Amino acid sequence: RILRRQMVCRRDIDGLNAHFLLIYKSLIPPEEEKAKQKQLLTLLEKLVYKEWPQAQLYLYGSCANSFGVLKSDIDVCLAMEDADTIKSEVLLKLADILQSDNLQNVQALTRARVPIVKLMDPETGISCDICVNNVLAVVNTKLLRDYASIDDRLRQLAYIVKHWAKSRGVNETYQGTLSSYAYVLMCIHFLQLRRPAVLPCLQEMEATYSVTVDDIECTFFDQVEKLSGFGSRNKETIAQLVWAFFNYWAYHHDYANTVISVRQGSVISKHEKDWTRRIGNDRHLICIEDPFEISHDLGRVVDKYSIRILREEFERAAEIMQYDPNPCEKLFEPY
Ligand code: CTP
Ligand code: MG
Repeated sequence: RILRRQMVCRRDIDGLNAHFLLIYKSLIPPEEEKAKQKQLLTLLEKLVYKEWPQAQLYLYGSCANSFGVLKSDIDVCLAMEDADTIKSEVLLKLADILQSDNLQNVQALTRARVPIVKLMDPETGISCDICVNNVLAVVNTKLLRDYASIDDRLRQLAYIVKHWAKSRGVNETYQGTLSSYAYVLMCIHFLQLRRPAVLPCLQEMEATYSVTVDDIECTFFDQVEKLSGFGSRNKETIAQLVWAFFNYWAYHHDYANTVISVRQGSVISKHEKDWTRRIGNDRHLICIEDPFEISHDLGRVVDKYSIRILREEFERAAEIMQYDPNPCEKLFEPY
């Protein structure tokens, strides 16, 4: 029964497609928001360089990886040599500097899993998290951005999936569901596996970009302008891809035995990674390999309760895409 499911039974596919594209467009941040983010970064640079002339500030996360929807906060990484041992001191000093410059709600969270300083800029209304030396995040931000520039359908699909996840309450890592970063990796992986493929596997190609961060060698093909048109043999529209994405996570993914790997552009076995059983808090109930920190399962936050919620939400979305006469309304209905 499942294998016979096909999107083609929907007669309103063109209308549905137009509807998804409208939703996508409505989520794109306007230019003035980008300008305000830039303005805040410039202010932060001025303050930081005065104290630490050798330091560098990098944007990462959704404000820099092309998957940022409107009204996003910005994520900033302060990179400086030798700061690792005294990270919390750097953060406290940073909080001090920022506080005295009229930035609001400045808070140093030195005990968080990723220690940060939080702040709000009253001038632009933008909130910002600053971390120290989280350079891997800067590199994976570049990887995501490079993938996004190969085929527009990645950005469209990821916006729709993120919007769905936020509306349905399954984008909360502290409640055992998945981060936006994990959802974007799921979208990339899914598009690598379409036949014909919509996306290549940049880490399996000739390395034109290479950095070593925390002893991890990060290499991939980043001359992505040479890959425009890569996915053009695949004619699937965004509506078909959204349908297939949810169908995959509802009915076809082998949760018990496989790990999705953007690094290899394929699924790999849990066995190979020794992710077959619970170790500490890592239960590996849904396995999403980080592209660079390959011992990191982005699904490790998922527990035996939240896996049920997640899978029920995938099934709900797949059913809506299959049968609902007005899927866009139902799909994003607040939970
Ligand atoms: N990140 C990471 N490892 C994680 C989670 C996040 O390296 N386990 C990094 C990634 O570089 C990611 C960034 O932190 O792009 C921000 O993560 P997240 O908040 O999940 O994604 P955003 O793209 O910022 O999404 P949102 O729009 O929901 O803020
Ligand atoms: Mg973010």
